[in-house]
Amino acid sequence: ALTSLRQILDHAGEHGYGLPAFNVTNLETLLAVMRAADRTDSPVIVQASQSARKYADDTLLSAMFRAAAERFPKVPLCVHQDHGSSPAVCKSAIDYGFTSVMMDGSLMADGKTPASYDYNVDVTAETVRLAHARGVSVEGELGVLGSLETGGGEQEDGHGAVGTLDHSQLLTDPQQASDFVAATGVDALAVAIGTSHGAYKFSRKPAGDLLAMDVIAEIHRRLPHTHLVMHGASTVPEDLQELINANGGHMPKTFGVPLEEVERSIKMGVRKINIDTDLRMALTGSAREYLKANPSSFDIRGMLKPGMKRMEDLCAERLERFGAAGHG
Ligand code: G3H
Ligand code: 13P
Ligand code: ZN
Repeated sequence: ALTSLRQILDHAGEHGYGLPAFNVTNLETLLAVMRAADRTDSPVIVQASQSARKYADDTLLSAMFRAAAERFPKVPLCVHQDHGSSPAVCKSAIDYGFTSVMMDGSLMADGKTPASYDYNVDVTAETVRLAHARGVSVEGELGVLGSLETGGGEQEDGHGAVGTLDHSQLLTDPQQASDFVAATGVDALAVAIGTSHGAYKFSRKPAGDLLAMDVIAEIHRRLPHTHLVMHGASTVPEDLQELINANGGHMPKTFGVPLEEVERSIKMGVRKINIDTDLRMALTGSAREYLKANPSSFDIRGMLKPGMKRMEDLCAERLERFGAAGHG
């Protein structure tokens, strides 16, 4: 059944587990996530970015979400807008039936320029007013997401650009976090602790200097009732890098967030763990493997089916490791 983020995360908080929030863009990703949740008896969060909504068509995508709830009635399902860039974007998600929205006011509406604290409070508080009136939860973000290794530089292809942000912008300030939650009334707060989106997060396995676990602990101490969110939480599994590279792809060696660090963060109040890249890699690697082995095939179901299974297994593993399995 469709559930708000607040309900799902309150339950996770009471029982001390974490929930993966999987980005979906099409039938294949949504079905894989739902099958994993059903199979492991878990609640689950599916989320769509603005570009995913555009890609899949709002009307078709929202109908698929409703259909997923109908097809898997036992799975508590939260449908979440990922990185809404304005109150208007969040409002349109609510109009399409999303049960939760993220107002990402850490960046301006262009999705790139770091925003001021006051701007962030204004747009987030406005979103909370319009969402709560309709029973919809809100996630905010404080601090700019980005790797401490590159100063927030984007590295979409593994050839890292160097960014210009210093540690004070890349790490959420705990005092400011409690002010922000009091001023906005958000249900969940995304914190910046050194993770970044995409596959190229770290050039070595991150340790204490690259992942600010102490910042999570301090924010949780000040805000025990606010559910914390980890963005950029993909593990970027080595076996999927190898699968892609063995089948005609080219991914320079890279490191994501180790699963044991995510598990540690759950003990410190992280309740929502955002995962997109790992699913993309599972589907891409499997499709490459199929196409390499079947060069004359143009069977799109043959090409996508192994990847759907690989995504389902990966989702099930995350649901189990984060402790959500059995709580459906
Ligand atoms: O926020 C980042 C997510 O991985 C979504 O990415 O905007 O390419 O859909 P996207
Ligand atoms: P990854 O790129 O690590 O999967 O992060 C996804 C994310 O944070 C979506 O909001
Ligand atoms: Zn994100």
